[in-house]
Amino acid sequence: MLVLLLVSVILVCCCQVLVAVEAPRIEMNDGNKIPIIALGTYGSAQDVQRMRQTVTWAVEAGYRHIDTASIYKNEEQIGQGIKDVVNKGLVKRENLFITTKLWNDRHDREQVVPALKESLANLDLDYVDLYLIHSPNATYEDGTPANVDYLETWRGMEEAKALGLTKSIGVSNFNVEQVNRLFANSKVKPAVNQIEVHPSLTQEPLVSHNQKLGVVVMAYSPFGFLVNRDNIADAPPPKVDDPTLLKMASKYGKTTGQIVLRYLIDRGTIPIPKSTNKNRLQQNIDILDFELTPEEIHTINKFNMNRGVFN
Ligand SMILES: NC(=O)c1ccc[n+]([C@@H]2O[C@H](COP(=O)([O-])OP(=O)(O)OC[C@H]3O[C@@H](n4cnc5c(N)ncnc54)[C@H](OP(=O)(O)O)[C@@H]3O)[C@@H](O)[C@H]2O)c1
Repeated sequence: MLVLLLVSVILVCCCQVLVAVEAPRIEMNDGNKIPIIALGTYGSAQDVQRMRQTVTWAVEAGYRHIDTASIYKNEEQIGQGIKDVVNKGLVKRENLFITTKLWNDRHDREQVVPALKESLANLDLDYVDLYLIHSPNATYEDGTPANVDYLETWRGMEEAKALGLTKSIGVSNFNVEQVNRLFANSKVKPAVNQIEVHPSLTQEPLVSHNQKLGVVVMAYSPFGFLVNRDNIADAPPPKVDDPTLLKMASKYGKTTGQIVLRYLIDRGTIPIPKSTNKNRLQQNIDILDFELTPEEIHTINKFNMNRGVFN
Protein backbone atom coordinates (compact mmCIF):
# COMPACT_ATOMS: atom_id res chain seq x y z
CA MET A 1 0.00 0.00 0.00
CA LEU A 2 2.79 2.35 1.02
CA VAL A 3 4.69 1.49 -2.17
CA LEU A 4 1.60 2.20 -4.27
CA LEU A 5 1.18 5.57 -2.55
CA LEU A 6 4.83 6.42 -3.14
CA VAL A 7 4.61 5.46 -6.82
CA SER A 8 1.54 7.64 -7.33
CA VAL A 9 3.21 10.61 -5.60
CA ILE A 10 6.25 10.22 -7.88
CA LEU A 11 3.97 9.96 -10.95
CA VAL A 12 2.07 13.12 -10.02
CA CYS A 13 5.38 14.99 -9.50
CA CYS A 14 6.73 13.78 -12.88
CA CYS A 15 3.51 14.82 -14.65
CA GLN A 16 3.73 18.30 -13.14
CA VAL A 17 7.28 18.65 -14.43
CA LEU A 18 6.31 17.32 -17.86
CA VAL A 19 3.32 19.70 -18.20
CA ALA A 20 5.64 22.73 -18.26
CA VAL A 21 7.05 22.93 -21.78
CA GLU A 22 10.40 24.74 -21.79
CA ALA A 23 10.44 27.69 -24.20
CA PRO A 24 12.47 26.92 -27.38
CA ARG A 25 15.38 29.15 -28.45
CA ILE A 26 16.46 30.92 -31.63
CA GLU A 27 20.01 31.80 -32.66
CA MET A 28 21.21 35.41 -32.54
CA ASN A 29 23.80 37.01 -34.86
CA ASP A 30 26.59 36.31 -32.33
CA GLY A 31 25.85 32.56 -32.24
CA ASN A 32 24.19 32.61 -28.80
CA LYS A 33 20.66 31.27 -28.42
CA ILE A 34 17.75 33.19 -26.89
CA PRO A 35 14.41 31.76 -25.64
CA ILE A 36 11.42 32.87 -27.74
CA ILE A 37 9.45 34.24 -24.77
CA ALA A 38 10.69 36.23 -21.76
CA LEU A 39 9.18 37.05 -18.39
CA GLY A 40 8.60 40.81 -18.00
CA THR A 41 9.35 42.15 -14.52
CA TYR A 42 8.68 45.90 -14.56
CA GLY A 43 6.10 46.82 -11.95
CA SER A 44 5.07 48.40 -8.68
CA ALA A 45 6.93 48.28 -5.35
CA GLN A 46 4.59 45.40 -4.42
CA ASP A 47 5.61 43.56 -7.58
CA VAL A 48 9.27 44.01 -6.58
CA GLN A 49 8.53 42.21 -3.31
CA ARG A 50 6.76 39.39 -5.20
CA MET A 51 9.62 38.90 -7.64
CA ARG A 52 11.56 36.23 -5.71
CA GLN A 53 8.50 33.92 -5.63
CA THR A 54 7.59 34.87 -9.21
CA VAL A 55 10.92 33.55 -10.52
CA THR A 56 10.18 30.07 -9.07
CA TRP A 57 6.65 30.03 -10.51
CA ALA A 58 7.99 31.21 -13.87
CA VAL A 59 10.70 28.54 -14.08
CA GLU A 60 8.19 25.86 -13.05
CA ALA A 61 5.90 27.08 -15.83
CA GLY A 62 8.68 26.78 -18.46
CA TYR A 63 10.14 30.31 -18.69
CA ARG A 64 13.92 30.36 -19.06
CA HIS A 65 14.33 34.04 -19.95
CA ILE A 66 13.90 36.86 -17.41
CA ASP A 67 13.93 40.51 -18.48
CA THR A 68 14.97 43.08 -15.91
CA ALA A 69 16.78 46.46 -15.81
CA SER A 70 18.71 48.42 -13.23
CA ILE A 71 15.91 51.03 -13.23
CA TYR A 72 13.30 48.39 -12.22
CA LYS A 73 15.00 48.13 -8.80
CA ASN A 74 14.22 44.42 -8.63
CA GLU A 75 17.54 42.83 -9.61
CA GLU A 76 18.19 41.78 -6.01
CA GLN A 77 14.85 39.96 -5.65
CA ILE A 78 15.29 38.32 -9.06
CA GLY A 79 18.79 37.21 -8.01
CA GLN A 80 17.31 35.59 -4.89
CA GLY A 81 14.72 33.84 -7.07
CA ILE A 82 17.47 32.56 -9.37
CA LYS A 83 19.39 31.20 -6.36
CA ASP A 84 16.20 29.42 -5.21
CA VAL A 85 15.52 27.67 -8.53
CA VAL A 86 19.15 26.67 -9.03
CA ASN A 87 19.52 25.42 -5.43
CA LYS A 88 16.27 23.44 -5.70
CA GLY A 89 17.65 21.80 -8.85
CA LEU A 90 14.76 23.10 -11.00
CA VAL A 91 17.19 24.49 -13.58
CA LYS A 92 20.93 25.05 -14.06
CA ARG A 93 22.23 28.62 -14.28
CA GLU A 94 23.51 27.95 -17.82
CA ASN A 95 19.97 27.03 -18.91
CA LEU A 96 18.60 30.37 -17.76
CA PHE A 97 18.79 33.49 -19.92
CA ILE A 98 19.02 36.72 -17.91
CA THR A 99 18.66 40.13 -19.57
CA THR A 100 19.33 43.42 -17.82
CA LYS A 101 19.78 47.01 -19.02
CA LEU A 102 22.04 50.02 -18.64
CA TRP A 103 20.15 53.09 -17.42
CA ASN A 104 20.35 56.43 -19.22
CA ASP A 105 22.50 58.19 -16.61
CA ARG A 106 25.42 55.76 -17.10
CA HIS A 107 26.07 56.30 -20.82
CA ASP A 108 29.70 57.47 -20.63
CA ARG A 109 31.93 54.77 -22.08
CA GLU A 110 33.82 54.29 -18.80
CA GLN A 111 30.56 54.01 -16.79
CA VAL A 112 29.23 50.95 -18.63
CA VAL A 113 31.40 48.19 -17.11
CA PRO A 114 30.97 49.51 -13.53
CA ALA A 115 27.18 49.79 -14.07
CA LEU A 116 27.02 46.19 -15.27
CA LYS A 117 29.16 45.07 -12.33
CA GLU A 118 26.61 46.73 -10.00
CA SER A 119 23.77 44.86 -11.71
CA LEU A 120 25.72 41.60 -11.41
CA ALA A 121 26.30 42.25 -7.70
CA ASN A 122 22.55 42.88 -7.25
CA LEU A 123 21.69 39.72 -9.17
CA ASP A 124 24.51 37.80 -7.44
CA LEU A 125 25.63 36.45 -10.82
CA ASP A 126 29.01 36.23 -12.59
CA TYR A 127 27.53 37.14 -15.96
CA VAL A 128 24.25 38.03 -17.66
CA ASP A 129 23.21 36.58 -20.99
CA LEU A 130 22.18 39.88 -22.53
CA TYR A 131 22.97 43.49 -21.65
CA LEU A 132 20.98 46.25 -23.38
CA ILE A 133 21.37 50.02 -23.65
CA HIS A 134 17.90 50.87 -22.24
CA SER A 135 17.45 53.90 -24.48
CA PRO A 136 19.58 55.86 -26.98
CA ASN A 137 18.96 59.03 -24.93
CA ALA A 138 21.56 59.82 -22.29
CA THR A 139 20.55 61.83 -19.22
CA TYR A 140 22.07 63.15 -16.02
CA GLU A 141 20.99 61.59 -12.72
CA ASP A 142 18.17 64.16 -12.43
CA GLY A 143 16.79 63.04 -15.80
CA THR A 144 17.80 66.14 -17.79
CA PRO A 145 19.32 65.37 -21.22
CA ALA A 146 23.08 64.75 -21.35
CA ASN A 147 25.19 65.01 -24.46
CA VAL A 148 26.59 61.48 -24.80
CA ASP A 149 26.60 59.79 -28.18
CA TYR A 150 25.30 56.20 -27.95
CA LEU A 151 28.26 55.14 -30.15
CA GLU A 152 30.47 55.99 -27.12
CA THR A 153 28.17 53.96 -24.88
CA TRP A 154 28.42 51.06 -27.33
CA ARG A 155 32.24 50.99 -26.96
CA GLY A 156 31.63 50.36 -23.24
CA MET A 157 29.13 47.60 -24.11
CA GLU A 158 31.75 45.95 -26.37
CA GLU A 159 34.22 46.10 -23.47
CA ALA A 160 31.68 44.48 -21.13
CA LYS A 161 31.22 41.61 -23.59
CA ALA A 162 34.99 41.20 -24.08
CA LEU A 163 35.37 40.91 -20.29
CA GLY A 164 32.80 38.08 -20.22
CA LEU A 165 30.41 40.05 -18.00
CA THR A 166 27.68 39.54 -20.59
CA LYS A 167 27.36 36.90 -23.34
CA SER A 168 25.50 39.18 -25.76
CA ILE A 169 24.91 42.92 -26.15
CA GLY A 170 22.07 44.87 -27.69
CA VAL A 171 19.93 47.96 -27.55
CA SER A 172 16.40 49.05 -26.68
CA ASN A 173 14.14 51.76 -28.09
CA PHE A 174 16.44 52.34 -31.10
CA ASN A 175 14.76 53.52 -34.34
CA VAL A 176 15.83 52.64 -37.92
CA GLU A 177 18.35 55.50 -38.22
CA GLN A 178 19.93 54.72 -34.86
CA VAL A 179 20.23 51.01 -35.65
CA ASN A 180 21.80 51.82 -39.04
CA ARG A 181 24.29 54.26 -37.52
CA LEU A 182 25.25 51.72 -34.85
CA PHE A 183 25.70 49.01 -37.47
CA ALA A 184 27.93 51.24 -39.61
CA ASN A 185 30.14 52.19 -36.64
CA SER A 186 30.60 49.08 -34.50
CA LYS A 187 32.81 46.03 -34.32
CA VAL A 188 30.24 43.92 -32.44
CA LYS A 189 26.76 44.26 -33.96
CA PRO A 190 23.74 44.52 -31.63
CA ALA A 191 22.16 41.08 -31.18
CA VAL A 192 18.79 42.46 -30.00
CA ASN A 193 16.63 45.58 -30.21
CA GLN A 194 13.92 45.63 -27.52
CA ILE A 195 11.01 47.83 -28.61
CA GLU A 196 7.29 48.24 -27.95
CA VAL A 197 5.22 45.99 -30.27
CA HIS A 198 1.57 44.87 -30.01
CA PRO A 199 -1.60 45.06 -32.13
CA SER A 200 -2.09 48.82 -31.61
CA LEU A 201 1.60 49.50 -32.42
CA THR A 202 2.68 46.85 -34.92
CA GLN A 203 5.94 48.61 -35.93
CA GLU A 204 6.16 46.64 -39.19
CA PRO A 205 8.93 48.76 -40.83
CA LEU A 206 11.12 48.80 -37.68
CA VAL A 207 10.61 45.09 -36.95
CA SER A 208 11.38 43.99 -40.51
CA HIS A 209 14.39 46.34 -40.75
CA ASN A 210 15.92 44.81 -37.61
CA GLN A 211 15.14 41.30 -38.82
CA LYS A 212 16.75 41.97 -42.24
CA LEU A 213 19.93 43.01 -40.38
CA GLY A 214 19.76 39.85 -38.25
CA VAL A 215 18.83 41.74 -35.06
CA VAL A 216 16.32 39.87 -32.88
CA VAL A 217 13.36 42.01 -31.82
CA MET A 218 12.07 41.68 -28.26
CA ALA A 219 8.49 42.99 -27.99
CA TYR A 220 7.66 44.87 -24.80
CA SER A 221 4.18 45.72 -23.47
CA PRO A 222 3.00 42.78 -25.63
CA PHE A 223 -0.63 42.96 -24.47
CA GLY A 224 -0.97 46.54 -25.69
CA PHE A 225 -4.41 47.75 -24.58
CA LEU A 226 -5.88 44.30 -23.92
CA VAL A 227 -4.94 44.93 -20.30
CA ASN A 228 -5.83 47.97 -18.23
CA ARG A 229 -3.35 50.88 -18.55
CA ASP A 230 -4.12 53.20 -15.67
CA ASN A 231 -2.49 56.26 -17.19
CA ILE A 232 -4.30 56.09 -20.56
CA ALA A 233 -7.96 57.14 -20.77
CA ASP A 234 -8.72 56.76 -24.50
CA ALA A 235 -7.20 53.32 -25.01
CA PRO A 236 -7.48 52.19 -28.65
CA PRO A 237 -8.73 48.75 -29.79
CA PRO A 238 -8.23 45.85 -29.62
CA LYS A 239 -9.48 45.21 -26.09
CA VAL A 240 -9.66 41.86 -24.35
CA ASP A 241 -13.18 41.16 -25.73
CA ASP A 242 -12.49 42.19 -29.32
CA PRO A 243 -14.73 40.05 -31.64
CA THR A 244 -11.97 39.36 -34.20
CA LEU A 245 -9.57 38.15 -31.52
CA LEU A 246 -12.36 36.22 -29.76
CA LYS A 247 -13.04 34.29 -33.00
CA MET A 248 -9.37 33.27 -33.25
CA ALA A 249 -9.33 32.45 -29.54
CA SER A 250 -12.28 30.09 -29.89
CA LYS A 251 -10.73 28.43 -32.99
CA TYR A 252 -7.54 27.55 -31.06
CA GLY A 253 -9.08 27.09 -27.60
CA LYS A 254 -7.04 30.00 -26.20
CA THR A 255 -7.68 33.43 -24.65
CA THR A 256 -7.37 36.66 -26.64
CA GLY A 257 -4.21 37.49 -24.65
CA GLN A 258 -2.65 34.19 -25.72
CA ILE A 259 -3.59 34.92 -29.35
CA VAL A 260 -1.73 38.25 -29.16
CA LEU A 261 1.38 36.66 -27.60
CA ARG A 262 1.37 33.96 -30.30
CA TYR A 263 0.94 36.66 -32.98
CA LEU A 264 4.19 38.25 -31.73
CA ILE A 265 6.06 34.92 -31.81
CA ASP A 266 4.70 34.17 -35.29
CA ARG A 267 6.09 37.54 -36.45
CA GLY A 268 9.50 36.32 -35.26
CA THR A 269 9.61 38.64 -32.23
CA ILE A 270 10.10 37.67 -28.58
CA PRO A 271 7.17 38.79 -26.40
CA ILE A 272 7.92 39.84 -22.79
CA PRO A 273 4.62 39.39 -20.91
CA LYS A 274 4.82 40.59 -17.31
CA SER A 275 2.89 38.94 -14.51
CA THR A 276 3.46 38.18 -10.86
CA ASN A 277 0.32 36.01 -10.70
CA LYS A 278 0.94 32.24 -10.84
CA ASN A 279 -2.06 31.39 -13.05
CA ARG A 280 -1.50 34.25 -15.47
CA LEU A 281 2.21 33.38 -15.71
CA GLN A 282 1.26 29.84 -16.74
CA GLN A 283 -1.40 31.07 -19.16
CA ASN A 284 1.05 33.45 -20.84
CA ILE A 285 3.51 30.68 -21.73
CA ASP A 286 0.82 28.19 -22.74
CA ILE A 287 1.16 29.35 -26.34
CA LEU A 288 3.75 26.91 -27.66
CA ASP A 289 1.28 24.34 -29.04
CA PHE A 290 -0.33 26.27 -31.92
CA GLU A 291 0.48 28.74 -34.72
CA LEU A 292 -1.51 31.49 -36.41
CA THR A 293 -1.89 31.49 -40.19
CA PRO A 294 -0.31 34.30 -42.29
CA GLU A 295 -3.87 35.61 -42.92
CA GLU A 296 -4.55 35.80 -39.17
CA ILE A 297 -1.26 37.68 -38.63
CA HIS A 298 -2.28 40.08 -41.41
CA THR A 299 -5.71 40.56 -39.77
CA ILE A 300 -4.11 41.46 -36.42
CA ASN A 301 -1.63 43.81 -38.15
CA LYS A 302 -4.65 45.77 -39.42
CA PHE A 303 -5.40 46.90 -35.84
CA ASN A 304 -2.31 49.13 -36.00
CA MET A 305 -2.96 52.72 -34.94
CA ASN A 306 0.65 53.62 -34.13
CA ARG A 307 -0.50 54.02 -30.53
CA GLY A 308 1.92 52.93 -27.85
CA VAL A 309 1.61 52.44 -24.12
CA PHE A 310 4.97 54.13 -23.60
CA ASN A 311 5.88 55.63 -27.01
N1 LIG B 1 12.85 48.36 -22.82
C1 LIG B 1 11.90 49.15 -22.38
O1 LIG B 1 11.99 50.39 -22.48
C2 LIG B 1 10.68 48.55 -21.74
C3 LIG B 1 9.54 49.34 -21.51
C4 LIG B 1 8.42 48.73 -20.94
C5 LIG B 1 8.43 47.38 -20.62
N2 LIG B 1 9.57 46.63 -20.82
C6 LIG B 1 9.61 45.18 -20.46
O2 LIG B 1 8.48 44.52 -21.02
C7 LIG B 1 7.70 43.92 -19.98
C8 LIG B 1 6.23 43.88 -20.35
O3 LIG B 1 5.71 45.15 -20.55
P1 LIG B 1 4.57 45.76 -19.61
O4 LIG B 1 4.82 45.33 -18.22
O5 LIG B 1 4.50 47.19 -19.92
O6 LIG B 1 3.20 45.17 -20.17
P2 LIG B 1 2.47 43.77 -20.42
O7 LIG B 1 3.29 42.60 -20.12
O8 LIG B 1 1.90 43.93 -21.80
O9 LIG B 1 1.25 43.87 -19.38
C9 LIG B 1 1.42 43.68 -18.03
C10 LIG B 1 0.06 43.84 -17.34
O10 LIG B 1 -0.83 42.84 -17.79
C11 LIG B 1 -1.31 42.07 -16.68
N3 LIG B 1 -1.42 40.68 -17.17
C12 LIG B 1 -0.40 39.83 -17.42
N4 LIG B 1 -0.86 38.66 -17.89
C13 LIG B 1 -2.20 38.77 -17.95
C14 LIG B 1 -3.24 37.89 -18.36
N5 LIG B 1 -2.98 36.65 -18.80
N6 LIG B 1 -4.53 38.32 -18.26
C15 LIG B 1 -4.80 39.57 -17.81
N7 LIG B 1 -3.87 40.46 -17.41
C16 LIG B 1 -2.57 40.06 -17.49
C17 LIG B 1 -0.29 42.26 -15.59
O11 LIG B 1 -0.85 42.14 -14.30
P3 LIG B 1 -0.42 40.97 -13.26
O12 LIG B 1 1.05 41.11 -12.95
O13 LIG B 1 -1.28 41.25 -12.08
O14 LIG B 1 -0.75 39.66 -13.91
C18 LIG B 1 0.16 43.70 -15.84
O15 LIG B 1 -0.77 44.61 -15.29
C19 LIG B 1 8.05 44.76 -18.74
O16 LIG B 1 7.67 44.11 -17.53
C20 LIG B 1 9.53 44.93 -18.94
O17 LIG B 1 10.22 43.74 -18.57
C21 LIG B 1 10.67 47.20 -21.40
